[in-house]
Amino acid sequence: MIYENAIVDVHSHILPRLDDGVQSYEDAKEILTYYKKLGFKKIIATPHNYAGYHTNSNFVIKKTLENLKKYCFENNIDIDLDASSEYFVNNYFLELLDKNEVLPFGEKYLLIELHPLQNNTNIFDVVKLIQDKGFIPVLAHPERYVYFYENREIYYMLVESGVLFQINYISLCEVFLTETIETVKFLIDNNLVSFAGSDLHSIINLQIMEKLANHEYITKLLTSEKLLNKTLL
Ligand SMILES: [Fe+2]
Repeated sequence: MIYENAIVDVHSHILPRLDDGVQSYEDAKEILTYYKKLGFKKIIATPHNYAGYHTNSNFVIKKTLENLKKYCFENNIDIDLDASSEYFVNNYFLELLDKNEVLPFGEKYLLIELHPLQNNTNIFDVVKLIQDKGFIPVLAHPERYVYFYENREIYYMLVESGVLFQINYISLCEVFLTETIETVKFLIDNNLVSFAGSDLHSIINLQIMEKLANHEYITKLLTSEKLLNKTLL
């Protein structure tokens, strides 16, 4: 199975009831079994931290991770689990960053997301603040920010400033905007992708990923020397 080359999922809303992702331990069990079938060995859970929608302290995230690990052990599901968070960039995130209350993955990577439609953040200022705290910013699904579509130069500028990109596998699926699909292909073609992720909120993402497994661009992505997923095992 092609996803054996990815091994580690770095973006997954698998922790039950912490956000708009998986809502029960039974569903998590089914999903983790599916992950194993696709070749994954480790899942890094990334519940949202988005003021006004879902806020999750490090304590709550770690506690839920422990509960899920215990549940997996009791149900004979052998898969590595770890946890971080997906931070929506706004003042709440900047406060957490300032107070050293963010939860990175792989020790120093910080998964951030921007507003999908409104270009209301100076991303380069935020990148600097993240780097000043000793973290490496990883921008979740750069292919989904519509205001980047007219200015592809921004992707090169972000990478030059030290941002790593995490694309979603399912962005190659034809249900998405043509611009989204074209952008994710552009990022893969130009070797701008450092991480790939499922951004799973339910089992549907894995079903789509299974259908995409032989997609030319999934093969290209997962055989890329630049992809860092494997380093996190
Ligand atoms: Fe996400």
